[in-house]
Amino acid sequence: MLDVNFAQISRFKATAKTARGALVLPIAHHNKMPDWLAAIDKDSYGKLKKAIASSNFTAKKGQILPIIAPEGLLYDQVLLLGLGKGKELDSVTCEHIGGKLLAKLNDLAVKKATIAIYNPKNSKISSHIIAVHMAVGAEMRAYKFDKYLTKKNDDNKPGPQSLTLFVDSAKEAADLFATQRHVLTGMFLTRDLVNEPGNILHPVSFAQRCKELSSCGIKVQIFGEAELEKMGCGALLGVGKGSIHESQMVVLQWNGADKNSKPLAFVGKGVTFDTGGISLKPANGMEEMKMDMGGAGAVVGLMKSLALRNAKVNAVGVIGLVENMPAGNAQRPGDIVTSLSGQTIEVLNTDAEGRLVLADCLWFTQDRFKPEFMVNLATLTGAIMVALGETTGGLFANDDKLARRLQEAGNEVGEKLWRMPLGEEYDKLLDCEVADMKNISSGRWAGSITAAQFLQRFVNDVPWAHLDIAGVATASKTTDICPKGASGFGVRLLDKFITKYYEGR
Ligand code: BES
Ligand code: ZN
Ligand code: ZN
Repeated sequence: MLDVNFAQISRFKATAKTARGALVLPIAHHNKMPDWLAAIDKDSYGKLKKAIASSNFTAKKGQILPIIAPEGLLYDQVLLLGLGKGKELDSVTCEHIGGKLLAKLNDLAVKKATIAIYNPKNSKISSHIIAVHMAVGAEMRAYKFDKYLTKKNDDNKPGPQSLTLFVDSAKEAADLFATQRHVLTGMFLTRDLVNEPGNILHPVSFAQRCKELSSCGIKVQIFGEAELEKMGCGALLGVGKGSIHESQMVVLQWNGADKNSKPLAFVGKGVTFDTGGISLKPANGMEEMKMDMGGAGAVVGLMKSLALRNAKVNAVGVIGLVENMPAGNAQRPGDIVTSLSGQTIEVLNTDAEGRLVLADCLWFTQDRFKPEFMVNLATLTGAIMVALGETTGGLFANDDKLARRLQEAGNEVGEKLWRMPLGEEYDKLLDCEVADMKNISSGRWAGSITAAQFLQRFVNDVPWAHLDIAGVATASKTTDICPKGASGFGVRLLDKFITKYYEGR
């Protein structure tokens, strides 16, 4: 049973016998109609050719031309769907086209659609890849987080209920989609978690939701405040001091490989709400800070994907869950805390809290698991949005190979990363007179880099990468493949990264 919002409308078939609903005819930019399309055109007494001639439809990618009730065909309507140039078609483009199509079907109130996939001339990818990625894009766009709407209106009524993709290699398509479906399920879990408001998803309820993952074979351990205190996680605990909700650290383990193979470690910032604490954020837009657990959300979604698809790796996910609130017992600017690593930190700004949480999670992870590498994800800085905007995540690493692999995997799934520098000249900006370091730099520049530099002080020479996903964890406007809100960024990227480089070695 699925416990996440997932429309699950796609099916793959090798022969066409369904009728009614909409028939979608994807076509690449051609000089003349391909034969199969000419045949359909003939059945409809030339209606398709006529419709194309009297429109501006040129089969540009994502362009859609609806033709209502063409005579001679059994379908209620035909939609011509542009694929762009055959030789430029790749899986990411197919996903965007699939997403655009889904939105159009929604607008047209189509309940049932049939897509006749074909392999355009000069295409580098085969037809089952086209079919699967169009379906993936459609499912991503069909995602809805509407559990708190008590009334349905035109904007939130249910979308298409079935999407049948006709493709010669239907078996290959269905097999490939079976894996993609698990990855999507994990990614939708991430979206669900990130979309939940802070009153519902707080550190304790988040940890409880993690516990549910034990049903898919993941070992889940939860540490509460008493245990974290005993361990010495003073940096993480300081952040949660002002909250009525107990801070938590959750450890998720998936063992899909030999027990001697070192685990791959993923660490997430899980600030379930970031008010800034005593260094309070401005009221305007503060509600967005319910997404400040996007890193932890991605780690949890990834672990679920790995378990569902029975990945042949050992992986560990560690997330630090806290709520950053101002209160009489909250941490103050100027407080000095002792981190799990033993290093002391002067907290000059309580709003630079993510790095404090990660400091203890990263140290714990390398110390306890001796992993092959650590990748952490965090909505860490507003400054990364100034640098890279809302479509590319920041990548920081102490290891070139790890960085290259992450960037490559990101490009393949359309979740782009851009590498940023680290260096001693930035590190020294964190030096402090009264403690081993301060949590913000002295100047105003390079905020994302100094934040990464802070994290690096807690990785102890393990190969490590930090993904600053502040700009990409949510979409401020609906895109082809994501309704406004949580994007699930990181899950598909890391799943690809693991499949490509660490499975079946
Ligand atoms: N959670 C924020 C970063 C953030 C900003 C995430 C916008 C998503 C969108 C983080 O905890 C924070 O407040 N960072 C401060 C750091 C500063 C105090 C050095 C920032 O970016 O302003
Ligand atoms: Zn903050
Ligand atoms: Zn934060």
